[in-house]
Amino acid sequence: MTPTSELQKPIIKTELPGPKGREIIAADARYVTPSYPRPDYKLVAEKGYGVWIEDADENVFLDCNAGVAVCSTGHCHPEIVEAITKQTQTLIHMCGTDYYYRQMPDLGKKLNEICPIDGDTKTHFANSGAEAVETALKLAMSHTKRQKFISFFGSFHGRTLGALSLTSSKKAQRSGFGRQALDVVHVPFPKCFQCPFNLGKCDDGSCCLGSIDWIENRLFNTTTPPEEVAGIVVEAVQGEGGYVPAPPEFLREIRRVCDEHGIMMIVDEVQSGMGRTGKMFAIEHSGVKPDIMCIAKGIGSGLPIGACVARADIMDWHKGAHASTFGGNPVCIASALKTIELLERELIENAQVVGDYLKQGLEKLKDKYECIGDVRGLGMMIGVEFVENKTTNKSAPELRDRIEMACFNRGLIILGCGASTIRWSPPLILTKENVDVALEIFDAAIADSI
Ligand SMILES: Cc1ncc(COP(=O)(O)O)c(C=O)c1O
Repeated sequence: MTPTSELQKPIIKTELPGPKGREIIAADARYVTPSYPRPDYKLVAEKGYGVWIEDADENVFLDCNAGVAVCSTGHCHPEIVEAITKQTQTLIHMCGTDYYYRQMPDLGKKLNEICPIDGDTKTHFANSGAEAVETALKLAMSHTKRQKFISFFGSFHGRTLGALSLTSSKKAQRSGFGRQALDVVHVPFPKCFQCPFNLGKCDDGSCCLGSIDWIENRLFNTTTPPEEVAGIVVEAVQGEGGYVPAPPEFLREIRRVCDEHGIMMIVDEVQSGMGRTGKMFAIEHSGVKPDIMCIAKGIGSGLPIGACVARADIMDWHKGAHASTFGGNPVCIASALKTIELLERELIENAQVVGDYLKQGLEKLKDKYECIGDVRGLGMMIGVEFVENKTTNKSAPELRDRIEMACFNRGLIILGCGASTIRWSPPLILTKENVDVALEIFDAAIADSI
């Protein structure tokens, strides 16, 4: 691909995947684990530039998934490339768990400034979202001297054994792994579109209150006394579970319950954080201040970095309690600091403005098609839920998969999540012109798939 400003539409010139792509897929099938949850379509990425991805056969796609909500600043943003390159020329690794370097406190200080946590914070650096979650779990256990957790159906917090105990968005994630490492009880998540308490559409708050009632009046009185609960772990917007924003009143109630019982409120912002929802963190839409936050994905613009940020008085564990050889590597931190600078400079605002524009376009498609049951989300984190019809609102997973494939064949990268949702998680540099192109393709893909 020659990245030029004139490039405005995808260019598909071979069958998909093309001959070179098929060779790579064959080698992958031979040498790489089959456990990755790849979609039906097969994208073999070779180069990335901004919102565009070129595959091994020189087909060019408009990327509205950003490597699963990771490439927040777009692919290979020149300022990110420059920051990383510069850092590799002076210090690549020194193991921050045993030595010191300036980058760790620099990013810790920045996170203290931007994380909506009351008072000062401290940060533990990790390499991924799951590791940030593992850190949060251990920290909550260490601080409260308690062992139980409460999590929500539909949640995704990672696949390592501790995080897996929380995760509940798909059967395949836990199937075959027997009893879980941690003592976690799951509660229905307030998804108003298909309210878990009245099975219909709920706009009256009954699912929010139902979930809290479930915790206070069922769990606390039976299996899970509050004095044994270390933390309630919640995604501010459920990601893998279907792009479902947590209602603000529900988050405020969790805060109240945690305050009343000395429980840590742990907010997982791995997918919803770093500007994606039009604020630095999705929890800011509710005004709630958590005790512990998990961050990864978009913070590094593609470099592997995660962070567990907690109130400084909570991060009181003993030397050796938790550490990671690579976590907070100087090159990854250089990328994170530059990413945050770009987010603050313009991209959070762009996520809000262009995200609203995208949502409006998707809502028009909802009016046009009987099979779109719901369009929901914040900023550039938008879910489109496909249903059999608007009377039953019954999920339509096969239709969703067909539409995903039809988009790919036309050069648009989007990805499913939840039972029958398509997620929009583009790079935060997306423009209104890009949105027009994407919506035209999405519209045609739906028309051809129903
Ligand atoms: C909300 C959330 N938490 C945790 C994770 C796990 O992150 P990772 O795959 O980097 O371990 C994910 C990944 O999708 C996520 O969406």
